Amino acid sequence: MKKFILIASMLVIVLTLVGCGNGATDNGDANGNEIANGNEAANGSDAFSISALEAAENISAEWNESTKKFAQPNPAGRDACAACHDGTVYATGVFTDPEEFDDLRIHTTGLDCQACHTGTGKEVMDSGVVSLAWFDDNDINHFFDADYSAGTAALCISCHTGRQDPVANRDSQSGAFVHYAAPAAINTGIGGMEYAGVDYASTAIHANLQDSCVSCHMPETEDGYKVHSFAPDNAYIDNACGTCHPGWTDFNETGLKDTVAVNLELLNATIVDFIDGAVSVSFGRGGGVEMEDGDTVGWNDESVPLEAYIAAYNYYLILNDGGAYAHNPAYVKSLMDESLKGLSGETFDW
Ligand code: HEC
Ligand code: HEC
Ligand code: HEC
Ligand code: HEC
Ligand code: HEC
Repeated sequence: MKKFILIASMLVIVLTLVGCGNGATDNGDANGNEIANGNEAANGSDAFSISALEAAENISAEWNESTKKFAQPNPAGRDACAACHDGTVYATGVFTDPEEFDDLRIHTTGLDCQACHTGTGKEVMDSGVVSLAWFDDNDINHFFDADYSAGTAALCISCHTGRQDPVANRDSQSGAFVHYAAPAAINTGIGGMEYAGVDYASTAIHANLQDSCVSCHMPETEDGYKVHSFAPDNAYIDNACGTCHPGWTDFNETGLKDTVAVNLELLNATIVDFIDGAVSVSFGRGGGVEMEDGDTVGWNDESVPLEAYIAAYNYYLILNDGGAYAHNPAYVKSLMDESLKGLSGETFDW
């Protein structure tokens, strides 16, 4: 509680907003996200060891160096995209067309303190539950319903889902790929494209970490506040991973990231071989399967077998998530193994 009062008063300082009351949070344990990684014990206290103002300065400086600082005007200025790409729209749920202010649509807001600490962000963090996009037909207006419990990381997951429902996508072979990167799809161990009736492995301890994304990406500093640079920082590796991986000095300590990269290349080559007449595959706007005759056919073309599509979906899901190997190592291996099995009957060397 004392910490909450500090948070509230710091937000007043930084945002010059009026602090608002907050009940105790009950994150529930429907999916068992309750494994602590020891962050809380870092300084054995509930308060910062520096003044609230100094903590506000440090947090602001870290945020200033992060990709959260800016919004990209194109997605942030569009109704369908602004809920995740504009901080004010995310927090308030209200889209105001920037064109009303400016033809260039440059009056957009990055993911600032307000975005995560007021309105939607605060609600999601306090409730600790988020409805994953792939459970509700990818309707972005509904992904804040109570569904998946992830502690304060329900905040991160509300945006970092990849905007796909892999089951519907598989059944329709729609050709719609994950939105840039979907760490939540991998970390939860349920968001890849699976074969019906097959059991996939998952590193449960990573999937069920209390506060999930936040516990690895925002570990507590020795001054007692959570670091706000968002991208994993090697300087805090011991706070984030040390309880379970003592002595690690590199996130890729075991080299799994490199093995995943090598095996992804093999998977790509096997996908190309598997599709009659294909010379290469790609995705995104204008992407698909490039054929010997120079034409590119869509992933939903009848010449593309479902096995190739499933493998390609998982290939891009893992390729685009720079932290896939750390997010859920066993799930990544399992998704890749099952994808390869569907094509050649084999599994990878790990
Ligand atoms: C459910 C939330 C959500 C919605 C809705 C959304 N995005 Fe995104 N978008 C993200 C996230 C999260 C990332 C960052 C992914 C990553 O790199 O981890 C991203 C990344 C991007 C990027 C790449 C940014 C970069 O720096 O590499 C572009 C471009 C983009 N989105 C465009 C759009 C467009 C256009 C729309 C609307 C049609 C849209 N987004 C809707 C969440 C969303
Ligand atoms: C309101 C939506 C939203 C929320 C909430 C959100 N993110 Fe993001 N995040 C984005 C978008 C959009 C980008 C892409 C930034 C860009 O390039 O414009 C991004 C980028 C990132 C990146 C950098 C990715 C890269 O490739 O450089 C990391 C790391 C990240 N977010 C982690 C987190 C964590 C951890 C949380 C929770 C504490 C979180 N995000 C909460 C939307 C969100
Ligand atoms: C077990 C710890 C752990 C958990 C849990 C975790 N991450 Fe990560 N994440 C990492 C590590 C470590 C990396 C960096 C990998 C590297 O650079 O080799 C990373 C990388 C990323 C990246 C790419 C950053 C970049 O600069 O390219 C994004 C985005 C991201 N994580 C978002 C999330 C989100 C959102 C969640 C919650 C769904 C999450 N992570 C959960 C450890 C974790
Ligand atoms: C992308 C989301 C995001 C953004 C942007 C963000 N925060 Fe946070 N902040 C969090 C999360 C998550 C926590 C941890 C909450 C918890 O553990 O209860 C947190 C915690 C805090 C705390 C509590 C102290 C601590 O670190 O444990 C303060 C104070 C704070 N943030 C201030 C700020 C300020 C000031 C800004 C803007 C410069 C900001 N935050 C931007 C997500 C965000
Ligand atoms: C609460 C404990 C816990 C925390 C915290 C934790 N991990 Fe793990 N991690 C595990 C366990 C247990 C395994 C072993 C699972 C298995 O392989 O059977 C594992 C496996 C891994 C693997 C797979 C190694 C391999 O080569 O197979 C990587 C990579 C990894 N963790 C990275 C990280 C990183 C990076 C962090 C911090 C950002 C982190 N973990 C935080 C418990 C944890």
